[in-house]
Amino acid sequence: MKILAIETSCDETAIALLECTGSLPTPDFKVLGNSLFSQASLHAHYGGVYPALAKREHLKNLPILLEKTLVEAGENVDAPKIDCIAVTRGPGLEPALWTGIVFAEELGKKWQKPVVPVNHMEGHLFAPLFENAVPIEFPAVSLLVSGGHTELVHLESFEKYTVVGHTLDDAVGEAFDKVARLLGLPYPGGPEISRLAEAERSKNTKPEFLFPRPMLHSHDFNFSYSGLKTAVLYTIKKLEEPLSEETKSKLALAFEDAAIDVLVEKTRQALEQFGAKTLLVGGGVAANKHLKKKLTELADASGVVLRFPPMSLTTDNAVMIGIAAYVEILKDPSLLTMTTIPMKADGNLSL
Ligand code: KG4
Ligand code: ZN
Repeated sequence: MKILAIETSCDETAIALLECTGSLPTPDFKVLGNSLFSQASLHAHYGGVYPALAKREHLKNLPILLEKTLVEAGENVDAPKIDCIAVTRGPGLEPALWTGIVFAEELGKKWQKPVVPVNHMEGHLFAPLFENAVPIEFPAVSLLVSGGHTELVHLESFEKYTVVGHTLDDAVGEAFDKVARLLGLPYPGGPEISRLAEAERSKNTKPEFLFPRPMLHSHDFNFSYSGLKTAVLYTIKKLEEPLSEETKSKLALAFEDAAIDVLVEKTRQALEQFGAKTLLVGGGVAANKHLKKKLTELADASGVVLRFPPMSLTTDNAVMIGIAAYVEILKDPSLLTMTTIPMKADGNLSL
C-alpha cells in the first residue's frame, strides 16, 4: 500500500511517500520519496515557534515539497498511484495543523483518495517500527520526549495502550530550549545544549554545578521541568555576566544530567511496574546521545529490548506519520473508506 504522509504540526513541513507492506507485529516500510523543510532558523529570532509564521511557511512549502517527493518517487505529480493520504490532525499548533489538513483534503478530493487522520504522538510512538528487526514484545513501555510532550506509555498490545505519566508543566524538550535561551544559545536549544554538555562530559572534570532532579521520588510516572529551568535561571543570576563559554558548558552539562536522570529513573520504575519486555523511545529529545547511552545501560540491566527509531525519525518528520497511519489501517481497515466529513485540527489531541 502506498501512503502519502503530510506533517505540519509545528515548525517542520514534511511530506513522504511510503510503500507499506506486511502486517503487525512486523510491518515493513520503504521510503519512496521524502522531503522536509525545517523552519527552525526562521523562528530562532523569536526564541520559539511563532504560530502565524509557521502557518505562512507551511502554506508556501507544502506544494513545493509535494512535487519534490513525488518526483523523487518517480510518480506522476498530477496523478500519483497512491492508496491514501495520511495527515497529522493533532496535537500541535492549530493554525499549523490546519494547513496540512486542508492541503490533504484538497488532494484527497482531486485524486479521489481517502484521507486518514493521524495523531502526531502515535507517529513518535510507532517510529521505532521503521527498523523491522524483531517483533515488539508486549508488555512494552514507551518514553515519548519532545518539545511539547514528556510521556510514559504502557502498551499491552498495538491496540491497547495508556499514558501512565506526563509532565505537569514544561516538556523536557521545552526545558532544553528554555535553558538554551538563558545561556544565549540559538533555538532549538536541545542540540546546542547537548553539544556543549557532550564536550564538557568528555573532559571528565569534577562537576561545578548540581541541579535538582524534580519529581524523582514522587511515586508516580509524572514529570515536572519548570523548576529545573528556574534553578538554572537562579544559578545564572548569581554568576558574573557575561557567562564564559566554559561556564555555559558546565551549566549545560549539569542541566542535561539532571533532566535525563529523571527520565531514566522514571522509565526504570515503569519498566519494573509493568514487567515490560520492550522499551520504545520517540520524539526529538530521543536524538540526545546521553539519553540514548543511559537508556541502553538501563535496558541491558533490566533485560529489556530497546527500540529507538533511526536518528532521522526522532525529530518531526512525515515518515513516522505514514508509519502510524499504516498501523492504524492494519488495526481498522475501515479507515480507508472515503468520507465527506471534514476533519478537524485538535491542538490538544491525546494518545
Ligand atoms: O519531536 P520534535 O521534533 O517536535 C515536537 O513534537 O515537539 O521535538 C523537538 C524538541 C525540541 O525541544 C528540541 O530542542 C529537542 O526536541 N531536541 C533535543 C535534541 N534534538 C532535538 N533535545 C535534546 N538533545 C538533542 N540532541
Ligand atoms: Zn513531535
